Amino acid sequence: MVIHTANFVISNTDVKKCPPPNRPEYAFIGRSNVGKSSLINMITNHKNLAKTSGRPGKTQLINHFLINENWFLVDLPGYGYAKIPKSQREKFEKFISEYILTRQNLMNVFVLIDSRHAPQQIDLEFMEWLGENGVPFSLVFTKLDKLRPLEKKKFLPAYEKEMLKIWEVMPPVFVTSSTSGEGKDELLGYIEEINSSF
Ligand code: GTP
Ligand code: MG
Repeated sequence: MVIHTANFVISNTDVKKCPPPNRPEYAFIGRSNVGKSSLINMITNHKNLAKTSGRPGKTQLINHFLINENWFLVDLPGYGYAKIPKSQREKFEKFISEYILTRQNLMNVFVLIDSRHAPQQIDLEFMEWLGENGVPFSLVFTKLDKLRPLEKKKFLPAYEKEMLKIWEVMPPVFVTSSTSGEGKDELLGYIEEINSSF
């Protein structure tokens, strides 16, 4: 899929104020600082469509972007950032879970995982929660450019081993780098395929 246009639509914390659910929608979620906003910029060929930062906790709202006048991309706040006060974190969790559970046009949730880290409980639990609630999701490994060649070979089998203790089959997996552009065509091809069934 070629990206012709990518436009910011609205930011909010209230699912009811999201744009009308009349187009297929894809959300990017994962731990704070995992690279959600950077990945959105990479796949849409924009440097600053979604705001990024070296400091965790940058994205604090549900951000809608309209792509090719045809489908929505959603940038969400990260979970699991200890330095955000507990009350604020609980507020995030509430509106994020409400968004995920009630958004009718949400076709797929992309769960981002930093490819440098061993499987983390918080991510595994989040995916279990998606599964229990029947929310379709895929795994997206980020920051591939930061791995050494040997690590590049090892990280995915190691992650799969952990996932398969919980799941019978693996969800779709994408490996990406926002700096090299790796994984872009695969992600966009996957979205295009799902779009055609909307
Ligand atoms: P929050 O909004 O705070 O939850 O973070 P986020 O998940 O949106 O992460 P963001 O895209 O802001 O990126 C966090 C940091 O990681 C930034 O300094 C990015 O430049 C860096 N980063 C993100 N993706 C990549 C990548 O693929 N490769 C490298 N080398 N750095 C990356
Ligand atoms: Mg962000």
